[in-house]
Amino acid sequence: MNILLTPARIGPVEIKNRIVMPPMTTRTADDEGFVTDDCLAYYLARVRGGTGLITVEMASPEKVGRHRRREIGIYDDCFIPGLRRLTDAIHRGGAKVSIQLGHAGGHTRADICGETPIAPSAIAHPVYEITFETIVPQEMTKARIDETIAAHVAAAQRARTAGFDCVEIHAAHGYLISQFHAPFENRRRDEYGGSLENRARFGLEVLRAVKAAVPDMGVVYRLSVEDFFPSGLPYAEGRQIAIWAAAAGADALHLTAGHYRSRPSAQVVLPPMNFPEATFLDYAAEVRKRVGVPIIAVGRLGDPATAERAVSQGKADFIALGRSLIAEPDWVEKVRRGEPIRRCLACNTCINEMRGGARIGCVVNGAAGRETVFVAPQMPRGERIAVIGAGPAGLTYASLVAEGNHVTVFDKDAQPGGAFQLAAKAPMFQEVETDERSFARYLANLVAACQTKGVKFRFSTEVKSAAELLGFDLIVTASGATYRFGLGLLTLWLIKTGMARARNCPAVYIVGNPQLVLLPRPARHGGAVASPGAAGSARDRHWRRGARRQKQGGDCRRIPGGVAGRRREG
Ligand SMILES: Cc1cc2nc3c(=O)[nH]c(=O)nc-3n(C[C@H](O)[C@H](O)[C@H](O)COP(=O)(O)O)c2cc1C
Ligand code: SF4
Repeated sequence: MNILLTPARIGPVEIKNRIVMPPMTTRTADDEGFVTDDCLAYYLARVRGGTGLITVEMASPEKVGRHRRREIGIYDDCFIPGLRRLTDAIHRGGAKVSIQLGHAGGHTRADICGETPIAPSAIAHPVYEITFETIVPQEMTKARIDETIAAHVAAAQRARTAGFDCVEIHAAHGYLISQFHAPFENRRRDEYGGSLENRARFGLEVLRAVKAAVPDMGVVYRLSVEDFFPSGLPYAEGRQIAIWAAAAGADALHLTAGHYRSRPSAQVVLPPMNFPEATFLDYAAEVRKRVGVPIIAVGRLGDPATAERAVSQGKADFIALGRSLIAEPDWVEKVRRGEPIRRCLACNTCINEMRGGARIGCVVNGAAGRETVFVAPQMPRGERIAVIGAGPAGLTYASLVAEGNHVTVFDKDAQPGGAFQLAAKAPMFQEVETDERSFARYLANLVAACQTKGVKFRFSTEVKSAAELLGFDLIVTASGATYRFGLGLLTLWLIKTGMARARNCPAVYIVGNPQLVLLPRPARHGGAVASPGAAGSARDRHWRRGARRQKQGGDCRRIPGGVAGRRREG
């Protein structure tokens, strides 16, 4: 029996397996923070996929702590009915549900939260939320600290009324409690500043007060144990806070790392593809030896074998899968059935687009954040389907419709992958440095998913006319885009020779939209054609950007040092 599929407890709450969905902001709430149908559908897709514990995204216990527009609300009783609708639906699906109580502190702005932000000290905070601005928050007095602790207690009580099983206290990533931890952000001279004991005091007071108020709920403490910047929280101190938090009543520790001031960038919080897998697991393993409460590990643990080893080797009790569950909501069920999962690329498009104003979305899962659009897909049945193109779009489509149909994928190349293989060789993909292994793993799993469902492949076969496809009921074209202005040959040469990675290389463009296809209503008979570029453009914002690019002279995606060079803060 795979240990990931065995039950375990967080305080009073039994979870049916070891997979936790960590909090991830989605912007699927409405403008005021009320739960919407889209929000519900997004979480329910992960429930149906077998996740044991769903943690609903960061919700501030006070209005002043709201960190993003369309953040889900829990700071007032008016949010309870919507939250109750969410917890009821998640429970009906068989999962347990938690919510993250997260206060932005100085990492928000008056135009987002409607009030003057508060923080341990009045120092400048760079805030990137759609636009980039630096603010100076108000320093919290002792009375204001007490008020904020009380707000956490009230929010936890609201969570209980709304039917949550657990609450998670956000002491990570540079938000309020984490700001108290970091000497750079906490310049106080009172009992909340200076020594580690003092800097940890506020978070531990929140924890004790919440646990005392809701003893029948599981209380999880989510802690960055290492901030990765000078004068941030170093690991030795983070580990000590973890030990104190366990002693202060946390029913589980959720150990993460990183801060929006991290070096080389805030991306450390979500280790991109050029970081090692299981990035923070050693921290979890070491803390686990020193505390008596369950440890939730997070950070590039989406490979099922890696996740399984982490638990079986005693490095963690639970595995939190963030981006992996955005990319593959059915992760648990597929592991249970022994099927290949759709691998997350660790390209961070989801977070970067979201910080820029888009709702949650995913490069390899066009349905993420748009689950309501795919409620009742009209899948073909008993058809002979020809898919032209074995790139990610063609392979994804083939794997989705393989059951109940006879699917053959044609590609002029001798191997699958299409232009996606070139994307792996370019210096940057979206805003992160490429790592070819990430693309290779993703493609290998897509091919395996097709093979296990009986899809046939015809490589080294260029289909030049529909006449060559007589006998098929349905033809799906997923053959990608073409370069304009004859730039294709130049681009291929730059990438294949490795010149594209050279420091002095001019901007390189890769054609086509690497967004993948997920067709809700596959094209029917009559030679109808589904274009991956069109069907795969998951989000409106992408369309707008695409349109802008076209106006600028091509439907090209830029892979430049220029975009990557733009420093992104939390
Ligand atoms: C779109 C997105 C939103 C996130 N929002 C939050 C959040 O609200 N609170 C939080 O503590 N972490 C947040 N995170 C971080 C994740 O919880 C997780 O720690 C991170 O993605 C690393 O785990 P992974 O490698 O499994 O993705 C977010 C991550 C993503 C991708
Ligand atoms: S957008 Fe990229 S990083 Fe985010 S979930 Fe999808 S594949 Fe993973």
